[in-house]
Amino acid sequence: MRDPYLLAVITASVRADRIGPKVTRWFLRHLDRHTDATVDHIDLADLDLPGDLSGGGDAERFTRRVEQADAFVVVTPEYNHGYPGPLKTAIDTPYEQWRAKPLGFVSYGGVSGGLRAVEQLRTVFAELHVPTMRTSVLIPNVHDAFDDRGELRAPAPVEAALTELVRQLNWWARALSGARTDRPYDC
Ligand SMILES: Cc1cc2nc3c(=O)[nH]c(=O)nc-3n(C[C@H](O)[C@H](O)[C@H](O)COP(=O)(O)O)c2cc1C
Repeated sequence: MRDPYLLAVITASVRADRIGPKVTRWFLRHLDRHTDATVDHIDLADLDLPGDLSGGGDAERFTRRVEQADAFVVVTPEYNHGYPGPLKTAIDTPYEQWRAKPLGFVSYGGVSGGLRAVEQLRTVFAELHVPTMRTSVLIPNVHDAFDDRGELRAPAPVEAALTELVRQLNWWARALSGARTDRPYDC
């Protein structure tokens, strides 16, 4: 039996003139074919998360959405070989609500496709007891990657990675959801 689970997809770029929403829209369109998860799309540009971590309404609402999710996908660009500052604020806003839930990456940028941002994020999420998926979806040269319909010009390798990533998330999300129900994660 395939239990549905709640997948939070987080758009990390808040930059004016960002390409991030186009990448997220592409991911969400293709996600449907590989999972029956319910999606909660969280666009960080819609939230006022204070960098001093002083909380507030959006911080509480974001924390609740992280708490309700069973799994996550972060859609992130690479900035100066790292990931965007507002994403770090978002990660640091909740705490135990992230724990024991799988997380995957869709990244984009220049030639590296955002790989360096992803590898940094793995170490950050390890500290939060979040297992990150082995397969990432990397989109290099993102400004030339999409056609007028918002589809990839060279879909084969990227869509294959998407299929693998979502299969991994499906497995981990269901396994850990059951495990958290059987025994709360208190390590
Ligand atoms: C401040 C800044 C730094 C960047 N540094 C990198 C980088 O290190 N590696 C890379 O591949 N692309 C880099 N880029 C290019 C971005 O990946 C590209 O502009 C992308 O569109 C950013 O995502 P966004 O439009 O959703 O914000 C950088 C862009 C900005 C604005």
